[in-house]
Amino acid sequence: MKFAKVCGRLEGLGSEKWAIHLEGRKRAASGESLIFLSIGEPDAPPPTAVLDMVNDRMRAGRTRYAAGRGEPEVLNALARLYTERTGRTVSTRQFIFLPGTQTALFAAMLSLVDEGDEVLMADPYYATYEGVIAAAGGVTVPVRVDPDHGFHLKASDLEKAITPRSRVLLMNTPSNPTGAVFTRSEIEKIGKLCDKHDLWIVSDEVYATLTYGNTVFASPFDVAEFEKRTVVVSSISKSHAMPGFRCGWIAASEEFCDHAAPVTETMLFGSQPFLEDATAFAIDNHFPEIDAMKQSYERRARALVAGLKQSRTVSARMPEGGMFVMVDVRKTGLSGEDFARRLLAEEAVVTMPGESFGAGGAGHLRVALTVDEDEISEACKRIARLAERL
Ligand SMILES: Cc1ncc(COP(=O)(O)O)c(C=O)c1O
Repeated sequence: MKFAKVCGRLEGLGSEKWAIHLEGRKRAASGESLIFLSIGEPDAPPPTAVLDMVNDRMRAGRTRYAAGRGEPEVLNALARLYTERTGRTVSTRQFIFLPGTQTALFAAMLSLVDEGDEVLMADPYYATYEGVIAAAGGVTVPVRVDPDHGFHLKASDLEKAITPRSRVLLMNTPSNPTGAVFTRSEIEKIGKLCDKHDLWIVSDEVYATLTYGNTVFASPFDVAEFEKRTVVVSSISKSHAMPGFRCGWIAASEEFCDHAAPVTETMLFGSQPFLEDATAFAIDNHFPEIDAMKQSYERRARALVAGLKQSRTVSARMPEGGMFVMVDVRKTGLSGEDFARRLLAEEAVVTMPGESFGAGGAGHLRVALTVDEDEISEACKRIARLAERL
């Protein structure tokens, strides 16, 4: 049978990236005890009050079809959130409620990219980016970032990669996998470059609330002169430990939303009203569990960085944000892939090789901060032990 080209473009894309994680899962299923540091799934439960809200709203009959771009309650909550964040009036027509950041990314790419258009992004990058770009027929253009420069994207490197086919800069701050957070001054330089070359900026901000130490989150959407060319994609998956609820959104100009809404409505015909209400409630309120979760990620990251100080060959830098730490294994002489394989085989620790996130992740492991500090410390001992044996 004949299938459309998009199926071919996406076939097998990325499945090899998860090989070590899947191998770990198989071993765990057959009874082996392993430390899993491979997946970015929050280990904390969602705030109880939000769960109660979902229940209440379902029972109150909020189970019918929703308005295509989102119900007024959630659009108002988003408008309040972004108005406060940007210091400008952001209208309810500047949002589309969608099932998670991933869907928002897909809708953004489909609305901006034609076949052969180039999408630039910092390398290493989040594992699904190649897929969403390929789905739209676009061409991925990775721009290497330097681990020794904290994995920060330099405007000069970005400019070198721009061609007449460049259409979008896909950025992610805080970054998965690197933990880098763009500074306001980096955003201004990069935004000006996008202005000069008339590029859209798709800004994946799913980790926006998770920044550590003195790091301050910054977004091109918050800079008035870049608002019109910026499409923010985000959700409550990480901020509220609710990935399974699939509650996310696009924040952009009215013009962008007017063009993208037919794309999303064709696909979804709206979302679940009870989940939209719960998202509004989550955004509008403050939950002590969420503060505790954020503090625990920061403590775990510090424990990991401190735990690896015992090693002469492997090291880690404190992430500026997000849920991951990059562990530098370059001095061992092994690739991230080979180190991660041996770490699983010999020390029962499951990590993601940096190479799974692009060539820019070479010689690193990505470690998720989703286990407690004791397990992190134990994992550090095992990582250091393997490194010293090599
Ligand atoms: C950078 C990044 N973007 C998007 C997503 C998907 O988020 P969501 O659950 O909101 O679809 C993830 C999930 O891990 C992520 O790390």
